[in-house]
Amino acid sequence: MAEDKEEVKYYRLEELKQHSSGNSAWIHVNNKIYDVTKFLDQHPGGEEVLKEQAGDDATEAFEDVGHSADAREMTKQYLIGELHPDDRGAFVKPKEPLVIVESSEPSWWSGWMVPAIAGVTVALLYRILIADL
Ligand code: HEM
Repeated sequence: MAEDKEEVKYYRLEELKQHSSGNSAWIHVNNKIYDVTKFLDQHPGGEEVLKEQAGDDATEAFEDVGHSADAREMTKQYLIGELHPDDRGAFVKPKEPLVIVESSEPSWWSGWMVPAIAGVTVALLYRILIADL
């Protein structure tokens, strides 16, 4: 039955950003949106850390702390929905740094072919000059 099915509420990134103060603090952790406004003064890690992340992506900060299983269970009380799938790319960190490393090795061509041709040319010119004398 349709009434039994829990519908996920999606929030856009713009909406998340509007809840960035102590009066209304939403955080994003792993594509989920939490309203932690009422939790600010109860958070064992202090309210400042939550306020700093309010309206923004707190995934890394949340994971870095190594929150206990109890803390993770507690997050469910504050879950209000998920980040809209179209906005998820904004918080995805590239797995590899996007740096194109150019090889400093000389290529096969410039490595020895060019000096070899130059050497042969010089030798030929020298022989021609010697022959003319
Ligand atoms: C709904 C979200 C959150 C919940 C329910 C929550 C809950 C908790 C709980 C229960 C603890 C006590 C230690 C434990 O059981 O792991 C804790 C500690 C802590 N939390 Fe959170 N937390 C949340 C989000 C965050 C975020 C986003 C940050 C980082 C910005 C953060 C930073 C900390 C810190 C620094 C501590 C102290 C760790 C320590 O003293 O060892 N928490 N949190």
